[in-house]
Amino acid sequence: MNNFTFYAPTYFSFGKDTQSQAGALVKRFGGSKVLVHYGGGSVVRSGLLDTVKASLEAAGLAYVELGGVKPNPRSGLVYEGIELCRKEGVDFILAVGGGSTIDSAKAIAAGTVYDGDFWDFYEGKPVEKALPIGTILTIAAAGSEGSPDSVITKEEGMIKRGASGEAYRPKFSILNPALTQTLPPYQTAAGITDIIAHLYERYLTNTKEVEVTDRLIEALILTMVHEGPRVIEDPNNYEARANIMWAGMMAHNNSCGVGRTQDWTSHNVEHELSALYDCAHGAGLAVAMPAVFTYTLHHDVMRFAKIAVRVWGCQMDFDDPERTAKEGIEALRRFLISIGMPKNFEELGAKEEDIEFLAHTACYGTENADGKLYGFTTLDQKDVEEIYKLMV
Ligand code: NZQ
Ligand code: ZN
Repeated sequence: MNNFTFYAPTYFSFGKDTQSQAGALVKRFGGSKVLVHYGGGSVVRSGLLDTVKASLEAAGLAYVELGGVKPNPRSGLVYEGIELCRKEGVDFILAVGGGSTIDSAKAIAAGTVYDGDFWDFYEGKPVEKALPIGTILTIAAAGSEGSPDSVITKEEGMIKRGASGEAYRPKFSILNPALTQTLPPYQTAAGITDIIAHLYERYLTNTKEVEVTDRLIEALILTMVHEGPRVIEDPNNYEARANIMWAGMMAHNNSCGVGRTQDWTSHNVEHELSALYDCAHGAGLAVAMPAVFTYTLHHDVMRFAKIAVRVWGCQMDFDDPERTAKEGIEALRRFLISIGMPKNFEELGAKEEDIEFLAHTACYGTENADGKLYGFTTLDQKDVEEIYKLMV
């Protein structure tokens, strides 16, 4: 195991009706003037926004609102939010929604207290300072409620990039599984897929002897395999939603990723898909993961065979471990299709003729990119093109 530090000081309030604590929690973490940030309207329709506003008012807090965050959140609204926060003297940002809303809130939080262009952080500048952020999560998926990350799409060229920094970790996150019961099945399934991807991206490591995190990851994927179909069948199954919601947080606050190298190839390859075609991130991952794993299999066949046996219940073939490894990838693919995810470019709305562009942007998309993707393996543009071809 490699040396590591781990400091993830987000306060979580989990369970039924916890959204009414919003005002008290903002106050506890030092907010006095709040930006309430939300998406395209689901929180208006569900009544959640009214509950949150009532809670802020009850705590004697002033607030302004900014809705309209789109899935794969855009830089344009971030600039608007920064201007609003400066004008109104906002000192706390409350994100009410999914990963897109939380990520947009994080970008606004950093941009408000930065003299330059907030996009600098999405070109590699570490995020050292940001306004404090709180979240009320409405979809179990991205893990942004506990992560130090944010992903934003720049409209110019539709480039999707991530930024990281401890200042991006939410001060608190309110997780009420009942709030996820209004999700359409497709979004629920996309969220489950994203959670599984966050676990696979950490499982695919070059670090030896990391049994404790291997076992945590396996347990969380097994939980998704058990609870996923239950919640697709019965969207009101609170207990299944509760297990998925907490698994989603644990999958991405890095408690399962410490002390080991990680992959992130599937995410890098996927981000180009959701940037260009505006598909759900999880749906893009459902198509990307089997292709990436098939292409990188030979780098460490035993790692893929291990997850195949321990998670997918495959029989270990000691004469031909590659067969076992491939069976595991097939089992993952079948599971994702069974919960309603797309299986190829066509179902995702992606186009074969874009492959060269997608691979080029993945490898050279930012100023400091050197044409390679680093992770479990090192890949160049030609490799990435081959991976996209496997998705057709
Ligand atoms: O905008 P509204 O109207 O709220 O609708 C949303 C949106 O259309 C809807 N939704 C959310 N909760 C709902 C609901 N509809 C009904 N009932 C509810 N309770 O679901 C749709 C998707 O929402 P979004 O926030 O986009 O989903 P998700 O949480 O999957 O976030 C995806 C974004 O997170 C990024 C992705 O790249 C993508 O841009 N990621 C962020 C990460 C991070 N910050 O750590 C890591 C991830 O790997 C990921 O890259
Ligand atoms: Zn993800």
